Amino acid sequence: MGCAISGLSETADLGEKSNYHAGGGGEGGHLSQDQIDMIKESWKVIKDNITKVGIIVFVRLFETHPECKDVFFLFRDVKDLERLRTSRELRAHGLRVMSFIEKSVARLDQPERLEVLAVELGKSHYHYNAPPKYYSYVEAEFLNAVQPILKDRWTAELEEAWKTMFQYMTRLMKQGYEDEDRQNQATISPKERGDKRNAAL
Ligand code: HEM
Repeated sequence: MGCAISGLSETADLGEKSNYHAGGGGEGGHLSQDQIDMIKESWKVIKDNITKVGIIVFVRLFETHPECKDVFFLFRDVKDLERLRTSRELRAHGLRVMSFIEKSVARLDQPERLEVLAVELGKSHYHYNAPPKYYSYVEAEFLNAVQPILKDRWTAELEEAWKTMFQYMTRLMKQGYEDEDRQNQATISPKERGDKRNAAL
C-alpha cells in the first residue's frame, strides 16, 4: 500500500526526533491508509470529549512545562492551576487546538490541504512566541489524555498512528514557524535587529 501522506520527507527535519518511528504501512514517517482509518475511527470517540481533552492537555502542559504558561498573556499570572481548569480562556484555547486536530483528521486524505493549514498555523505561532520545541509536549499530553477515554480501544498501533500524525502536523508547523522567522529577519533593518537585541539583554 502506498503512502497516504507523502512529499514532505525531503524537507522533513526528523533528526532530533529520537522517538519517531515510521508508521505501520509507510516508510519515512508516512501514514498508511490503515493508520488513517484507525485515527478517524478513534476520533469519533474523542470528539465527544473535546472540551474535556482540550482542558486536560493544557492544564497538564502547564504543570509539566510551566514555561509554556508565560506564552499565554492571559494565564501568565495565574498561579493556581486549579483555577485555570475553570478558566473560560483556557477552555476556548483548548477547543481551538482540538478543532484544529479535528480539521486535520478530516484532511488526512487530502495532505496538500492539511499542509497549507498547518504551515499557516506555525506562522501564527511565531507571532504568539510559541516555539516548535513546545509542540511535542502537546503531543505527549494529548496521548495521555485520550488513552483513558478510548479505554480498550487504545492499542500500540493506534498510539503509533496518532504519534505519526502529530509529528507530521507539528513538523509542518515548525516549517511555518521557521519560514516566518526567516521572513522577519530578512525584512527587519540591521538597526532594528540591534535594538531588539539590546531590548532583550
Ligand atoms: C500541536 C500543537 C498546537 C496546536 C495544534 C495549536 C493550535 C492553535 C490554534 C488552532 C490556535 C487558534 C489561532 C490560530 O489559528 O492561529 C492557537 C492559538 C494560540 N496558541 Fe496554539 N497550538 C499548539 C501549541 C501551542 C503551544 C505549545 C503554545 C504555547 C506554549 C501555543 C500558544 C498559542 C497562543 C498564545 C495562541 C493565541 C491565543 C489563543 O488563541 O488563545 N500553542 N493554537
